[in-house]
Amino acid sequence: MAAYQKTATVSRRETLGEDIFRLTLQAPEIARHAQPGQFVMVKTVAGSDPLLRRPFSIHQITDDDQVQILFKALGKGTRLLAGVAVGQSLDVVGPLGRGFSPPATSHVCLVGGGMGIAPLFFWASHLLRSGRPMEILALLGARTREELASLASDMAQLGLSVRSATDDGSLGHHGLVVDLLADLGPEPGWSVYACGPYPMMHAVARQCMASGRPCQVSLETMMACGLAACLGCAVPSKAGAGYLHVCKEGPVFAAEDVAWP
Ligand SMILES: Cc1cc2nc3c(=O)[nH]c(=O)nc-3n(C[C@H](O)[C@H](O)[C@H](O)COP(=O)(O)OP(=O)(O)OC[C@H]3O[C@@H](n4cnc5c(N)ncnc54)[C@H](O)[C@@H]3O)c2cc1C
Ligand code: FES
Repeated sequence: MAAYQKTATVSRRETLGEDIFRLTLQAPEIARHAQPGQFVMVKTVAGSDPLLRRPFSIHQITDDDQVQILFKALGKGTRLLAGVAVGQSLDVVGPLGRGFSPPATSHVCLVGGGMGIAPLFFWASHLLRSGRPMEILALLGARTREELASLASDMAQLGLSVRSATDDGSLGHHGLVVDLLADLGPEPGWSVYACGPYPMMHAVARQCMASGRPCQVSLETMMACGLAACLGCAVPSKAGAGYLHVCKEGPVFAAEDVAWP
C-alpha cells in the first residue's frame, strides 16, 4: 500500500475538552488512500526537537481531501501539536499500517477508551456508507464527562447508538466501558472492534474470545519510524509465533493473534 510524505496545511483546529484537540489537515493523497484503522506519522515541529514523528490514528476523512486527527496533549510532541494554528504546515506521512477488516456479522460493537475512540469514527462512517444493513453500537469510555461529552455527541450524530462510561460517573455508567459489554447479551452474533488503553482491550478481547465473538483490537506501541524500519514497535505474537510489528502488520489485529499476558 502506498504511503505519502506530504506537507499538510492545518485547515481547522478544534478544542474538544481539557487538553483534547482535533486538527483537520489538507492532505488529498493521504485522504484518498486512507482506510479506517490506519494511522499517520506527524512531525510535531518544523525543527528537530522532537526529532521523531508521532503516530496518530486517522480519525476521519472530510471533504474527500482532509485528514483529521484527534489527540490528547500529553508530552512534548502532542503539546507542540496542540499549539499549531490554522494555516500552519505539518509534515505528515501516511496512510500507514493495516486497518479494520469487515465484520462477519450484522451486529457491530465499537468499544473505545480515551483517545482510542479516534479511529472508530472513520470506521463507523465507512460502515454506515457501505449501505450494508447492520446495527452499530458504540460503547465509549473516558475518565470524565469533560473528556467524553463532545465525542459521544459527535458519535451519536453519525446515527449510532451510543452508551457512555466514565471513571468518575459524571457521564453515563459509573465505571469501566468494558462493563457495558454485558448489554450485548449472551449471544455471539456481534463483531467487536476495540481501541483504547491496553488493559481495556485485553478485557474486551478476553470476553469476546470466551463468548466466541470475533474481535479486532487496534494496538498502540511506541513508534520511531512507522515504516517497518526500526523494529521498535514489535509486540509478542501468540505463543510460539514470534513478534508482530504494530506499524506494518497492525495496528489492527484479531484479538486471538495477540499474546495477551
Ligand atoms: C498506531 C497509533 C495510533 C495512535 N493514535 C492516537 C490518537 O489517535 N490520538 C492520541 O491522542 N494518541 C494516539 N496515539 C498515541 C500517541 O502517538 C502518543 O500519545 C504520542 O506519541 C505522545 O507523544 P508526546 O511527544 O506528546 O509524548 P511523549 O513525551 O513521548 O510521552 C508522553 C506520554 O505518552 C506516552 N506515549 C508516548 N508515545 C506513546 C505511544 N506511541 N503510545 C502510547 N503512549 C505513548 C509516554 O509513555 C508518556 O507517558 C497513537 C499511537 C499509535 C502507536
Ligand atoms: S515503528 Fe519502526 S518498525 Fe514499527
